[in-house]
Amino acid sequence: MGLKKFAAALALSASLFAMGSAKATDIEVTHWWTSGGEAAAVAEFAKAVDASGDHWVDGAISGSGDVARPIMMSRILGGNPMGATQFNPGHDADEMARAGLFLDLTDLAAKEKWAEILRPKSQLASCTIDGKVYCVPVNLHSAQWMWTNRKVFTDLGLEPPKNINDLLAAAPKLKEKGIQPLALAQGWAVTLLVNDLIIAFAGTDNYVKVMKDRDVALASGPVYTDVFKKIGEVRAIVDSKAITKQWNEAAALVIQGKAAANIMGDWAGGEFQVAKMTPGKDYDCLPGLGLAPALDTGGDVFYFPKSKNADLEKAQLKMASTLVNPTTQVAFNLKKGSLPIRPDVDLAAANDCMKKGLEILDHNPNPVPSNRQMLDGESITAIGDLLTDFFSKPEMKPEDVQAKFAEIIKNAPKM
Ligand code: GAL
Repeated sequence: MGLKKFAAALALSASLFAMGSAKATDIEVTHWWTSGGEAAAVAEFAKAVDASGDHWVDGAISGSGDVARPIMMSRILGGNPMGATQFNPGHDADEMARAGLFLDLTDLAAKEKWAEILRPKSQLASCTIDGKVYCVPVNLHSAQWMWTNRKVFTDLGLEPPKNINDLLAAAPKLKEKGIQPLALAQGWAVTLLVNDLIIAFAGTDNYVKVMKDRDVALASGPVYTDVFKKIGEVRAIVDSKAITKQWNEAAALVIQGKAAANIMGDWAGGEFQVAKMTPGKDYDCLPGLGLAPALDTGGDVFYFPKSKNADLEKAQLKMASTLVNPTTQVAFNLKKGSLPIRPDVDLAAANDCMKKGLEILDHNPNPVPSNRQMLDGESITAIGDLLTDFFSKPEMKPEDVQAKFAEIIKNAPKM
């Protein structure tokens, strides 16, 4: 064999050896997706990362964001980081990015043209600080949905509600029959409910003016007085003794027909899917509680804590690319109940709820910021504690809660 041929054969065998023996890099991935629907969705991400040649080491943290966020943050800030973590964009994440704790994804984003492909623009913007990209957005999710069990209403000769006002009107009859009109979970789910009611009854502009622009006069004025009165009416249809610990337990009460409705983000849709229920037939999904369709930019993103390990960094970049590719996007979002972060995907399997979300996105491309993007964690917690009190103490008056709410807004640090 001539020298040239021998050298070519040697080069080929070396590259084949390199490819064949490219050791799979373990990436420890933390997230708080542990409900039925969430677990089914995150399994699609794990499958895609493993298929890409690396190995997803699952670091699920149960107990939703309120439990997981502090754990994730203390590991990253404490120098014991995971390889990748799911998170929500906002104040906490921005602080860690500014501290230089996350891998810079700017070059990858430019190479894969994320700025042109991903939509709405707000999602990549949530990951970008001073022109640098520090996270990969993986969905657009909206917190503003009402979920109803159709059979609970039709069995009582009632029309399934088209909006929150219809539910309020049907509540006396539901209570008479021992059905909880509105299932509710404790903690952040109460804040989500109230944020949704503010958007539904006062509109997104008045919501953002208070949460983001700190318009205290608006927060303590007549528009919000009417909203807090409505929130009082909604409180009256919640059984304060049946408030569940976890958000998916409240959704399960609707799935089982023990409650008529639940107000929760689109991730509740994943629970109805796992229960093999069909929207429009077994349940209804009402964006914007049927009154003011809205999408928020809270979404889910993945950050990649910096490491000194070159193999891990390579695997992190490959994972970021895998999470936004069209195939992975469809597989994940169909199970999660959220919307794909890019339009160029095959949504043949999309159900009516996802189609409703896409309809809003197409006609309302400016989603409302999530509260985590407008308020610091402490103010969010203070509002959550105040509202949890309100929903568990019938003696608390709406006007008193409004005054305390306005005070929190007044003292919330500028972001
Ligand atoms: C949110 C997260 C959603 C869903 C929800 C309930 O913060 O963005 O994807 O997991 O928590 O756990």
